[in-house]
Amino acid sequence: MNGVMIESKIDFINLKVRTIAALEEWWDELDAHRPGQPKVDRERALEELELSFMPTKRIFDRFFSMPNSHTFQMKPVADLLNQYVSRLSCIIDPFARDSKWATVSNDINPEFCCQYQLDAVEFLDHCLNGWGMEGKFETVLFDPPYSPRQIAECYRVIGRKTKMTDTQNARLYKECRDRLTRLLKPNGYALSFGWNSMGFGIGRGFEVEHVRLVNHGAAHNDTICVVERKAR
Ligand SMILES: C[S@@+](CC[C@H](N)C(=O)[O-])C[C@H]1O[C@@H](n2cnc3c(N)ncnc32)[C@H](O)[C@@H]1O
Repeated sequence: MNGVMIESKIDFINLKVRTIAALEEWWDELDAHRPGQPKVDRERALEELELSFMPTKRIFDRFFSMPNSHTFQMKPVADLLNQYVSRLSCIIDPFARDSKWATVSNDINPEFCCQYQLDAVEFLDHCLNGWGMEGKFETVLFDPPYSPRQIAECYRVIGRKTKMTDTQNARLYKECRDRLTRLLKPNGYALSFGWNSMGFGIGRGFEVEHVRLVNHGAAHNDTICVVERKAR
């Protein structure tokens, strides 16, 4: 796309149409140029192209806050929530701790005043299969334990034995995000918190609108907040 002048919205749309048309012609050539490789997944490639054409206003910013295990009480995080989440909307939080943001809240630790005290994956399965909540939420909050060590610590506190698979945070994140994506309405917001900026990702149809780093000083890891919109 280098060297193409885009002066108006019409130029932009024309470029998009021409690029998709060119790709449609070149699929076979593309496969021929990649001998021994799996064929290009055309549907996925078109979806990614479509998303890459969406004009996105993406904000990056950084603030300081003292560390706090109540993530949503840190001022830069509370400000972010106030910016993107309407208190009047339906909000789900499978790892809520003491937070009162969600309309449907869960935490595995019964000490916290949540509506449900289930394992997050089990809770989300009930939301989808038992309680018919698919596509019902305007916002999903995703603030899980940030590392295998934190998962093990949460289980230790509630007296639950940890199996090897329990402490694989990548597996937990994937299983929750797949289910939360189904629970979220189109155009709804997913807010993720943790030590990386992966978020729900383009593969699930999300586009990033805002990344906020919350720096905690000294040698602490930042809390990385990612706000994404479900674009399809
Ligand atoms: C980072 S904290 C959430 C903090 C919360 N957002 C706040 O602002 O107070 C993660 C929470 O997840 C809970 N948790 C850990 N493993 C879980 C699991 N498998 N299912 C549900 N909750 C879990 C922990 O008990 C902990 O309260």
